[in-house]
Amino acid sequence: MSTSLIKDLQQQMQAINAQGLLRRRRTTASACDVHVDVDGRPMLSFNSNDYLGLASDARVVEALREGASLYGAGSGASHLISGHSKAHVQLEDKLAALFAPHLEQPRALHFSTGYMANLALLGALASPAPQETEIFSDALNHASLIDGARLSRAQVTVYPHADLETLGQALKNSKAKIKLVVTDGVFSMDGDIAPLPELLALCEQHGAWMVVDDAHGFGVLGENGLGVLAHFGLRSPQLIYMGTLGKAAGVAGAFVAAHQTVIEWLVQRARTYIYTTASPPALAHALLTSIDLLTGEEGRVRRANLADLRLQLTGLSVKPGWQQLDSVTPIQPLVIGSNEDVLNLADALWAQGLWVSAIRAPTVPAGTARLRITLSASHSLADVAQLKAALAQAT
Ligand SMILES: Cc1ncc(COP(=O)(O)O)c(C=O)c1O
Repeated sequence: MSTSLIKDLQQQMQAINAQGLLRRRRTTASACDVHVDVDGRPMLSFNSNDYLGLASDARVVEALREGASLYGAGSGASHLISGHSKAHVQLEDKLAALFAPHLEQPRALHFSTGYMANLALLGALASPAPQETEIFSDALNHASLIDGARLSRAQVTVYPHADLETLGQALKNSKAKIKLVVTDGVFSMDGDIAPLPELLALCEQHGAWMVVDDAHGFGVLGENGLGVLAHFGLRSPQLIYMGTLGKAAGVAGAFVAAHQTVIEWLVQRARTYIYTTASPPALAHALLTSIDLLTGEEGRVRRANLADLRLQLTGLSVKPGWQQLDSVTPIQPLVIGSNEDVLNLADALWAQGLWVSAIRAPTVPAGTARLRITLSASHSLADVAQLKAALAQAT
């Protein structure tokens, strides 16, 4: 029996490999930064989501050290048993206060990962009446939202990417008692920003809640780095916000900010909050420093640097058939098309000392394989010039 399972898996993987879809991991042996030691080679990376370069910032690293000496290495139990620490509380209070301009009676809840936060959110919101709940989900939403919607047992309606007309019609036709419109704030593989003001207007018109996953907007958008809500200046009692803390914030984890009743409901019912060991308090302690940096003058300077880098990267002259997507965020995709071509291009860049990942199906739709170039405030204009020259040579 077990040998037949092994054989099946091997055959599946051969088939995946033949389609150019086998995934491989590379190993870093240095801090997360733009200059990294990867598989034993010094590389210039355009690969991480550490958009502000805070992951290796000395102040954040020192705060992590301090957190470890205050709280030890691990939390020891789930939040509802004994794992809930003062550092978690301080972090949640800080985040709730920051979101006060955007949400009504805000409270925040810290999660170990964004994936878990999304599963928690959609499952718990639908749990009072899954049969009477409908989730309206953008076709390009992140896998964690897709999985959260599936697991919630609510009815799921996928609308074409950012298609307000189709969504409006679906909301109008819906008989559901609870309606949740769910969208990435910044789409992770395309870099575009969801039309949130228009989506929110539709939600308000049809009595729906709007759930925004701002994994790639938090820290990056808005004057103070608070993400898409700040970028558009939105405030509504119908908003539920999810931000992650392992990308621009440079550490790990995630949070949901919403009306205090929604948050209390998550504490009572969200399975990925309740049935898991709380993340180490030292991480929450380090996040207190990184959030201060991200929302303060340091963050503003780093976002301005990111904007300069992005301008330098726009207007790549590339092979006919390739397409540089129009994006005002640090996610700068170059759509190549076939798996083979994108892998060849990534290999050619690697040979020139540049690390940029080839993203293929099912992460993106088949036939739209791409280089997902990501910028960090730690890049220099010379780094971007090096990437442009390498791309020109590989083209
Ligand atoms: C849009 C989006 N949502 C959620 C997540 C999950 O966040 P985390 O990595 O903290 O689990 C990611 C990426 O990982 C993401 O890109």
